[in-house]
Amino acid sequence: MQKKDFISTENYSKEELLHICELSLKIKKAVNHSFYPPLLKDKTLGMIFQQSSTRTRVSFETAMTQLGGHAQYLAPGQIQLGGHETIEDTSQVLGRLVDILMARVERHHSVNDLAEYAAVPVINGMSDYNHPTQEIGDLCTMIEHLPAGKKLENCKVSFIGDATQVCFSLGLITTKMGMDFVHFGPKGFQLNKDHQAKLDQICQTSGGSYTVTDDEKAIVGSDFVYTDVWYGLYEAELSEEERRDIFFPKYQVDTALMKKAGENAKFMHCLPATRGEEVTDEVMDGTNSICFDEAENRLTSIRGLLVYLMNDYIEKNPINLQEQAKAKEDLENFLGTVL
Ligand code: CP
Repeated sequence: MQKKDFISTENYSKEELLHICELSLKIKKAVNHSFYPPLLKDKTLGMIFQQSSTRTRVSFETAMTQLGGHAQYLAPGQIQLGGHETIEDTSQVLGRLVDILMARVERHHSVNDLAEYAAVPVINGMSDYNHPTQEIGDLCTMIEHLPAGKKLENCKVSFIGDATQVCFSLGLITTKMGMDFVHFGPKGFQLNKDHQAKLDQICQTSGGSYTVTDDEKAIVGSDFVYTDVWYGLYEAELSEEERRDIFFPKYQVDTALMKKAGENAKFMHCLPATRGEEVTDEVMDGTNSICFDEAENRLTSIRGLLVYLMNDYIEKNPINLQEQAKAKEDLENFLGTVL
């Protein structure tokens, strides 16, 4: 079976990513007018979670329901992925039981293995390396909130704080779009050399740029200010006191920081947020905050992505209509009824 997976946006062109966003926003408009296009009718999504989730889990399940399909939630610890049964075997089996798979994994190699051995499209629902479905949702949100008269490639996006996988992912998508990306974070918690080598590679052809710094001046002129929690889900967690010592107050997104970034800068956060740590209530609930639109666009973009991948799969593996008609007739003859 030929198929396309969605493991990292690194494997997608700017045009493909923009197409997924355009499709997502068109489906959003239809759904917002109470038209639910049956684009995934009879399709089943298997959702593997090795970690807890609110937005990703609910978005995938709602997307499948709204588009006429069904999602199966395979909770943390409910199925083995690389335990007693090898990932190779689990992938082969799941690929025969569902039409499409998504997995939130502790380690990136698990979702890569799943994609290698499953015969159906596999989506990375976040790993310790990246969070690509967050990226396309964020791109939809930036498109919807573009400053008047500006194009994506004229925008500057600043990420404040810890170099989480969401920070790296934001760097990937913004530089691919030709935007200027800044990671403003403390030394020791900045995007590392491997991350930067990947961003370098993208910038060589996209026209985008990136800066990694602990100098606050770099965020001046931002159109979007983004932050994430101060401790990664997958790293050895620091104590609350250690976290505050490293990040507070310099890297907390408060009203003063937003003012320095730009009077009209919009505030984004992948959520969940730890209010009072990486962001103040005033910013999160302020008029320039678009973080709840961003959360809604997880669903928006996941609908578009699922349709895009299923359409691609059907195109690459077309149904044999003659054989389908024969199989139907055979079943009708056996049952003695017309289906
Ligand atoms: N942003 C995000 O991935 O949220 P969840 O962990 O709730 O899915």
